[in-house]
This record gives sequence, C-alpha cells and structure tokens, in this order.
Amino acid sequence: MAAAPAHYKKPDPCSFVIFGVTGDLAHRLVLPALYNLAAGDLLPDKFCVVGIARKAMSNDALRDSLMKGLREFATRTVDDAIAKRLLECVTCIAADPKDPASFDRMRGQLEKLEADRATGGHRLFYLATPPDAFAPIARELGRTGLLKEDGGAWRRLIVEKPFGTDLASAKALNNELLKIADEHQIYRIDHYLGKETVQNILVLRFANGMFEPIWNRNHIDHVQITVDEKLGVGHRGSFYDATGALRDMVPNHLFQLLSLVAMEPPARFDAHAVRSEKAEVLAAIQTQSEADALQNSVRGQYQGGKIGDTEIEDYRKTEDVRPDSTTETYAALKLTIDNWRWAGVPFYLRTGKALGVKRTEVAIKFKQAPFAMFRDTPVDRLSQNYLVISVEPTEGITLQFNTKVPGPVISIDGVEMKFRYKDYFKAEPSTGYETLIYDCMIGDNILFQRADSVEAGWQAVQPFLDAWKKAGASGLQTYRAGSEGPACSDELLRRDGRSWRKLG
Ligand code: BG6
Repeated sequence: MAAAPAHYKKPDPCSFVIFGVTGDLAHRLVLPALYNLAAGDLLPDKFCVVGIARKAMSNDALRDSLMKGLREFATRTVDDAIAKRLLECVTCIAADPKDPASFDRMRGQLEKLEADRATGGHRLFYLATPPDAFAPIARELGRTGLLKEDGGAWRRLIVEKPFGTDLASAKALNNELLKIADEHQIYRIDHYLGKETVQNILVLRFANGMFEPIWNRNHIDHVQITVDEKLGVGHRGSFYDATGALRDMVPNHLFQLLSLVAMEPPARFDAHAVRSEKAEVLAAIQTQSEADALQNSVRGQYQGGKIGDTEIEDYRKTEDVRPDSTTETYAALKLTIDNWRWAGVPFYLRTGKALGVKRTEVAIKFKQAPFAMFRDTPVDRLSQNYLVISVEPTEGITLQFNTKVPGPVISIDGVEMKFRYKDYFKAEPSTGYETLIYDCMIGDNILFQRADSVEAGWQAVQPFLDAWKKAGASGLQTYRAGSEGPACSDELLRRDGRSWRKLG
C-alpha cells in the first residue's frame, strides 16, 4: 500500500452506505475507486462499507460479486491483500423503499455495525441506483432520521446523475432532497469534475497571470466544447432512448466545462465562492425562445456504419430502442452568455455517439491579427489561434499559433505548442471517482453541483428540449456511424463565418 501524500487529510471514520450495490455503477466505478483509495492509504482507519440490496443477500455473495467486478474493472493491478482488507469491511443489508419496515430494520443493523466498527456515526449514503429510486430512498432516509446530523456526527448523501430529466423534475428532486437534508449534506456528482484536466481549467485560468487579461470578448472570438464518443448506445437502449444526447450530456458534463471556462474569478478557492461563480455564469446563459432554439441547434441520429473494424447498426435497431425513435444521438447548440465578459462571444457545444473519433476538448478561438502586415499571407489565410484544453483521449493543453517557415522569403505556417500530462506527471490510472469520493468523506463539496447550478443548467436547455419535442421527426438529421456527425452541424458555424476545429 502506498503512503498517503503528507498534505492529505485522513477522512474521519465513517460508514459508506451504497444503495444499488448489486448494480453496474457500484461494480464498475465505486468499488474500483474505493480500492484505489485503499491502495493509496486514503480511506479512514475505521471504516465500513454497507451494501444495500433490495433482496437479502449474504455478505459472502456480495463480496464475491464485488471482487469479480474489481478484477474486471480495476484501473490498476489488484493487490489481493488490499482487496481482501477492503472486502472484509463490506456488509450486505436488505432494504427496499417500498417497504418502510425494512428501512427501520436497516437503521438498527447499521447502528449496531457502526458501534462495532467505532465509526463515530459518520455516514455517507451513495445513491448508485436508477434515478427513479432517488426520491423514494431519500424520503425513507428522512423518515428514519438516518440523515439527521446529531451528536457531532456528519451525514452526507451522494446523488448520481441524471439529476432530473428537465427543469421541473430537477426542481422537484431538489425540493425533495432539501426537505430531508441541508444543502451542505448533499453531494450531486458529475464525474467530469473528477477528471484532472477538467479541474485544471481553474488552475490554468487563475494560477497564471497571462491568460485572464485576454479571457474575454475583446480577444476571444468564440469557444467550442466538444464531447465526441465512438461508442454507440450498446445495451443502454431503454435509458438512452428516453434520454437522448442533450439530456445525457449537456446540462451536466458540457455545462461543467462551460462554467469552468466562463466563470468569473472566485474570491477564494472554497466551495461557496467557486460554486457561486459557476451558478452565476450558468444563470447568465441566455434562455432562448423555442424558435431561436431550433435555429441555434442541430440534432441527429446515427445510422449503421463502421468505426475502425467494428460494424455499428442503425440506432433504431438497437435493443430496447423504438424502431421509429426520434431520439437524438448527436446534439450541437449555439449558446450566448449575457454578461460583460462574454457579450457577443458564441459558445458552440457538440456531443454525439458513434462518431469516428473519441475526443473531449474545449477549444478557445482567439481573434485574428487585425491587419495584413505580411503581404503574401493575408490575415484570413493565417492559421487560427486556438488554445485547446484536451480532456480525452490525450490530457493536455495545446496552443496553436503562426510562425515563420525557415527560408529567405516570408512564409507563414501554423504550429502547435503542446503540454501533455503524461510527459510531466506520473499518475496511476484512476476511475475519476476517487477524488470525488475522498472529497465527500472529508466534507469538501467544491467539486459537487449545488441545487441552483443544476437548475440553471436545465433552464438553459429547456427551450431546446421543448422545441425538439414539438418538432418530432421534422428537423432530425441522420449521420453515418463513424462520421463526424450530421453535415448541418457545420452549417451552424458556417453561417457565422466560423468552422469546427477538425477532428484530430
Ligand atoms: C455518462 C453518459 O454520464 O457519460 C454516457 O451517461 C457517456 O452516455 C459518459 O458515455 C461519457 O463519459 P466519459 O467520461 O467517457 O466522457
């Protein structure tokens, strides 16, 4: 086991209660993340993991199943001794929100376990269930008093995405949760905030003096946020067909990127200051009329094609997808932010499934040099000045600028200055959930979404949801799996005299 870095705070003793422990998320991400924390000596000394299953299951059966998941999904080689120690902390308790008595029983069992393990009553509840179970579980936690902070013990609730399916449902869920817990106890997860490069946006902007003076409408022409995926919908047809690319990715992941890039500098690096600035900028996204939303968006659905050597079938032929589905698997939007910094600077967002290249990046396009000093290279033929923050597949930052090609005549070409994380830092591969779980255990909610920013995100996408629902099949574009997405997506920028950065 590696020793924890000296400046790390050891979390308080606690119990880590996972609802939905038999599911995919718990096996694929939560347990592997706990394993990585255990391997880095970042779990509390007194600790227990309580898996809540709807039907009774023995501790051994749950441990075996989690171990199988760990072997399959661990991001590093599993050390059997560490895994064994972690799994020995696991206890399975049955509770179903449809059966209130089971929650009363669970409370007794949990309290006994907490006394045995001397966890001081600190508790973290992780809702790793399908979203329709969030509110019923929360209500039972409220009724049984399990979330009540008393006797110096903290009680926290991690809620997974999707947080609502539109503005009204997100508000309703916030209301439910805020009836049973205080905002400081609620940790709404967006796994994009667990990514190093995403967290680094704040450091890039605010730990360097050179970017902030030009980070505004005077110097930035526009911003492009791209989250392109090669994967199709796979076995998630039923969830995805009811959700679509916009709901699945934009108000959460893409808006996390947008808010970090566009927020004002916070006065302090603490949860209140950072989250207030993020909420502020999301609330400043212009709410478009439905007519404008149609003008300023493109939605598409993939048809069969080839990605590398893999044949992908039509989206509509995917298991659990309606054969006449009009759900979008690709979405591109043009948004504007109504404040002094960003007035007149469009933010173009795009995301899609079954595309030719996997790429997540934020590209900041600076304004062109103002006049043609170099006779043979007019300004409009100069290469474009982009600052690109790459999240995937490479993690790093690239600056594109013009330079003189060596030789007796002035000839200009675009070049790149590249920083790659892997060239400077050696980090163990992780699930992206380690920081988030660790932060929750030490009570730091800076990387979690506050109620107001979740609602501001939905507020901004609501006109697109409404307009697309009304339009149905009309306006839905198609694209080949393995392509760059629907051709109309280029048109969205072309009519503004701009273009997407080419897929690498
Ligand atoms: C999830 C979406 O939240 O994020 C998935 O539900 C998507 O559809 C995934 O594939 C993308 O995450 P990442 O980390 O692979 O970019």
